[in-house]
Amino acid sequence: MRVISLVALCLLAVAASGEDAKLSTHATALADHSASLAFSLYHNMAKEKDLENILISPVVVASSLGLVALGGKSSTASQVKAVIGANKVKDEHLHAGLSELLTEVSNSTSRNVTWKISNRLYGPSSVNFVDDFVKNSKKHYNYEHSKINFRDKRSAVNAINEWAAKSTDGKLPEVTKDVEKTDGAMIVNAMFFKPHWDEKFHHKMVDNRGFLVTRSFTISVPMMHRTGLYGFHEDTENRLFVLNMPLAHKMSSMVFIMPYHVESLDRLEKLLTRKQLDTWLSKLEERAVAVSLPKVSMEVSHNLQKHLAELGLTEAVDKSKADLSNISGKKDLYLSNVFHASALEWDTEGNPFDTSIFGTEKLRNPKLFYADHPFIFLVKDNKTNSILFIGRLVRPKGDKMRDEL
Ligand SMILES: *[C@@H]1O[C@H](CO)[C@@H](O)[C@H](O)[C@H]1NC(C)=O
Ligand SMILES: *[C@@H]1O[C@H](CO)[C@@H](O)[C@H](O)[C@H]1NC(C)=O
Ligand SMILES: *[C@@H]1O[C@H](CO)[C@@H](O)[C@H](O)[C@H]1NC(C)=O
Ligand SMILES: *[C@@H]1O[C@H](CO)[C@@H](O)[C@H](O)[C@H]1NC(C)=O
Repeated sequence: MRVISLVALCLLAVAASGEDAKLSTHATALADHSASLAFSLYHNMAKEKDLENILISPVVVASSLGLVALGGKSSTASQVKAVIGANKVKDEHLHAGLSELLTEVSNSTSRNVTWKISNRLYGPSSVNFVDDFVKNSKKHYNYEHSKINFRDKRSAVNAINEWAAKSTDGKLPEVTKDVEKTDGAMIVNAMFFKPHWDEKFHHKMVDNRGFLVTRSFTISVPMMHRTGLYGFHEDTENRLFVLNMPLAHKMSSMVFIMPYHVESLDRLEKLLTRKQLDTWLSKLEERAVAVSLPKVSMEVSHNLQKHLAELGLTEAVDKSKADLSNISGKKDLYLSNVFHASALEWDTEGNPFDTSIFGTEKLRNPKLFYADHPFIFLVKDNKTNSILFIGRLVRPKGDKMRDEL
């Protein structure tokens, strides 16, 4: 009896504290699993030779995998759970936990962040979506459903791109130019993310500079500059800088990992593990840093189907083995594409800065963080410990600069 009333009291306490409510244990565990998925997925993608920029949202990938688990049966479903590291989590906890996590980290009111996430599951025109699945996938994962007729491939692809553009207010004009496998179920995530800095950049402190894609290839980009107090670490052994820039309300922050000089990111990527990141973050020291960042937007679309398969999702993507019969009531579907597309806009906007430290000792002798060559970045959530985005900027948009002799 006493135990029960204690539990009831705790529940009351959580309810009363409102916005400071802690995540449930399941959501906390799933946040942790999705952070591990961030690194395995990033590494798997970075192996691909011709891939330049990377931009993935591990919490959104986890949530899309949750959708596949919702539609899957037997080993198709258990494989999905294994990829998220949630083998032992009961289905109802999985769905409620992932939903809770995404709702928390994408709350624009509490976090002052612009993060539009739209998800759609496309099926071939012959498919019948089961009502229960439609209801639950809307409830937990905010998924819409749509049937698409690939007999007219061009208009099908146009319809997908138009939907993505519309749902991101035009920020993401294209998810894909083509779809190879048209006979299965297709997941599309379309996102727009715009960080709102805890301390804004002055909109006039922007000028054109060169971004060195390689030693011999430079692109002209607008660059924004500001000097402020930031968590900074110089790893002299590995010849790299780590910079932490809080986003508004300090509930999350953007972490940059950049080599001293222009080089291919392979070397840093070999170092990049979750443990190493924690080590770097534990060494951050708050100090004056003169930050220069490209003021650019990056639009990146990945088809994650192959990468998820390499991480263990082999059944759902295999036409002869997949059992997604909780989607359609029949064993007639497999996961043919997982389009994960996001637009990220780096801009000057943020909260007003603290002017009282200007001209004081605190801002003397700043360290330089001049991001004019490829770097890795993460949007790390401080409250849930999840990773909202992980990626790399290798080639920003812009014109090639003429070689100056
Ligand atoms: C799949 O459908 C069966 C009934 O056909 C149901 O018992 C089961 O709970 C469903 N699985 C999920 C993950 O919803
Ligand atoms: C978002 O956060 C605000 C303020 O913290 C809260 O009142 C609101 O209920 C949250 N919204 C959702 C959908 O959780
Ligand atoms: C963030 O806060 C600023 C005020 O500092 C406000 O103008 C802006 O609309 C907010 N943005 C979002 C997405 O909530
Ligand atoms: C995380 O939150 C704590 C407590 O609110 C705050 O002191 C700290 O600066 C935050 N960390 C980052 C990286 O924003």
